[in-house]
Amino acid sequence: MTIQEKIFSLNSDLRYILARQQHVKNLPVLAKGDRLIVDALKRDGIYITNLSELGLGSTSQLLNAAHRLLPTMGTTQYNSSVNNPPEIYIVTDLPSFYDWGKEQRLLNIIENYLSLPVAYHGVHLRKDFANENQFATLLWHRDVEDRRVLKIVVYLSDVEAKHGPFEYVPLSYTSKNQLNYYRIQQQIHNTAGIDDEALNKIVPKSAWKSCPGPAGTVIFADTRRLLHHGTLRREERSTLFFVYTANPPKRPELCTHFWDNSYPRPNLNSESEEVKVGASVI
Ligand SMILES: [Fe+2]
Repeated sequence: MTIQEKIFSLNSDLRYILARQQHVKNLPVLAKGDRLIVDALKRDGIYITNLSELGLGSTSQLLNAAHRLLPTMGTTQYNSSVNNPPEIYIVTDLPSFYDWGKEQRLLNIIENYLSLPVAYHGVHLRKDFANENQFATLLWHRDVEDRRVLKIVVYLSDVEAKHGPFEYVPLSYTSKNQLNYYRIQQQIHNTAGIDDEALNKIVPKSAWKSCPGPAGTVIFADTRRLLHHGTLRREERSTLFFVYTANPPKRPELCTHFWDNSYPRPNLNSESEEVKVGASVI
């Protein structure tokens, strides 16, 4: 990094800190109990709950829409000895999916966590398949779109060890005042991500936190702050990913794959829902 780039980056970090402080007075009031979620996110970078506990009004619409589409995904026979990337549908244009992610209670939680206005980028419906080798998001990494990236992951099927749960390293093992932080950053910088063997030498496997859970499990996770990955799986896993950053994010050019043509959209038949025109950022 040149000195000029360094100065620009420091300036931008300072503006970010000030903007967060200034926004505190505008933060929406949280519904009862939701302070707990925000506090856990600030402390741990993660909070795990489930759809019925959240009790959002649009949940049944979301589940109906997801279960209508899931049978059309993963119909190919996959061989786990080659790298099988996930099948992803962009469902940001479909109100049954998009509207769940913009439930006011969720947006209020996220705004309180980010302490900045929220950009809601969209929704992926995804199936992940059996793999024997770690590649792409199966490698340990941090997301890079913004300084904080809040993802809500909804399990649509039961997720046990064999289905490859979301897994993360607790913040206490990777905080900036530890050498681990820099060892990990260097490895991520040099490669696309870190495999289990390499990470085990920095943070022992016994410290990693796996997040199995029944269908309906909801994981709020800051995938920027947390070193994370999808564990290798022997059986497929179905999920929804909702993604939020501050508005505007630090790297808007990296946030487009929730609404551009990076992934296909589902083939809707006549009885399916109406498609909304264009994705919006709140
Ligand atoms: Fe990620």
